Amino acid sequence: MTAFDHRKYKPFPPIKLSDRQWPDRVIDAAPYWCSVDLRDGNQALMEPMSVEQKKRLFLLLVDIGFKEIEVGFPAASQPDFDFLRLLVDEKLIPDDVTVQVLTQAREPLIARTYEALIGVKSAIVHMYNSTSTVQREQVFRLDTDGIKQIAVDGARLLVEYAARYPQTRWTFQYSPESFTGTELEYAVEVVDAVTDIWQPSVDRPAIINLPATVEMSTPNVYADQIEWFCRRVARREALQISIHTHNDRGCGVAAAELAVMAGADRIEGTLFGNGERTGNMDIITMAMNLYSQGVDPKLQLGAMDRISRTYKECTQLPIHPRHPYVGELVFTAFSGSHQDAINKCLAGYQPGDYWQVAYLPIDPADLGRSYQEVIRINSQSGKGGVAYVLDREFGLQLPRWMQIDFSQRVQQRAEQEATELSPESIWQLFKESYVARKLPYHLEGYQVTRRDKQDSLVAEVSVGGKPVSMAAAGGGVVDAFVQALQGHSEHRIGVVEYSEHAIGQGEDARAIAYVLLTVNGERVCGVGISEDIVNASLSAILSALNRSAAAAQTRAA
Ligand code: KIV
Ligand code: ZN
Repeated sequence: MTAFDHRKYKPFPPIKLSDRQWPDRVIDAAPYWCSVDLRDGNQALMEPMSVEQKKRLFLLLVDIGFKEIEVGFPAASQPDFDFLRLLVDEKLIPDDVTVQVLTQAREPLIARTYEALIGVKSAIVHMYNSTSTVQREQVFRLDTDGIKQIAVDGARLLVEYAARYPQTRWTFQYSPESFTGTELEYAVEVVDAVTDIWQPSVDRPAIINLPATVEMSTPNVYADQIEWFCRRVARREALQISIHTHNDRGCGVAAAELAVMAGADRIEGTLFGNGERTGNMDIITMAMNLYSQGVDPKLQLGAMDRISRTYKECTQLPIHPRHPYVGELVFTAFSGSHQDAINKCLAGYQPGDYWQVAYLPIDPADLGRSYQEVIRINSQSGKGGVAYVLDREFGLQLPRWMQIDFSQRVQQRAEQEATELSPESIWQLFKESYVARKLPYHLEGYQVTRRDKQDSLVAEVSVGGKPVSMAAAGGGVVDAFVQALQGHSEHRIGVVEYSEHAIGQGEDARAIAYVLLTVNGERVCGVGISEDIVNASLSAILSALNRSAAAAQTRAA
């Protein structure tokens, strides 16, 4: 037996709630958001934020549109106290923003908390004490009445101290900390005892925050706990039920979403899920989830680059490249089939339509991301992705047969280099593969005369360094040139496909021609680029012949 013994753990008991309503509910409005970045988030940093960093983050949170921001635990930390005073003294708290502070239910801490808040227009005093079985029995060594008494005494002190500072609009908040490990009947008993003191009303509600201090179960169980609690708690209409999930099992956002379905009105969380251990629930992810369902999240997240840069600079934490909605790679497709599908959907998408693009749950442009990064090329990419990049960056519209031919070369190169290929290196590879080859054939000049839908062509071609003049007529220059070439070589040449278009506009415009030939029965592609279309077409044919010759040489070697 190894130390990895699952019998050490017991399963979380399900909640008895057979008539649960939450599974049928749909979230159709944003909850009230409260950012706890400057408290729970800051507390969890190896190096807590400096005053400057906190100030920057606070201003960012205000810009994003948070109306409730927990700014610290001023009675427990002098830097938190000083930061709150700075916000007040520098008048940085907008009138429509309420700051929240955390305190334990002890008089010296409560007194100091109110002192820190002097001069604040509107504040939430958030008091907590631990109520779970483990905390009661093993940490505080108090029975249920003893723990309830701490909460009740604290609730009284909040009222008493608030009365000393009538200039501030006070809201009281209570958290039965470690709620998820607390017997539900007991959690309701403690909360009812607290609200007996506070006597909240519909006009002056109290906030009851039910934290998953440690995430202990699947999110559906948390949702059951919230629905159960909301049904039993007294004065429900005078309470704002808030939730505060942590991410120990990796489901912090899911738990918060189900909790809202189960009746929660408000969510405490952080940007990008920063916070104790595996973090708090990530408000950005949940807000974007709402947005992607057509619900206004009531947060301004469009300038996501600025948000993530400020976050990283303030917290000194990275953002995972696959972080939902925000990571550097989340809107990037390397896989060929994904690229193909995205390409087709984007081509058909019209502004004003519902967003329906395969593999992209939201429009990257909504977060200030560009389409340039959507399709990137590595050895897993297919023809669609390569074609997309050449079109987007260089204006090339490769016909399908050309895409197939070139994507094989791209794949080989990506495998050799074992890395992503930049658009510039793909373009270089394209030119190197098709356009740059000048041996054995190179077009030196030509003349075309058109009469009765017949083109008569005289071409000067360098063949292995020797000038050769050749002439022929045909149904077009391509046809005529193929005839002429056949007269001067052993090759059997047939034209299978041909395509051309302009690249660029105005004076800088050039023509590009693509051909698929059979040369002695083998298929080979060629490309010509030139200021004039006839030159491009003839060069494309010679490009195919040069490639055929190179392939024959390789086979012979
Ligand atoms: O996670 C938690 O329980 C907390 C409380 C103080 C609300 O952060
Ligand atoms: Zn927390």
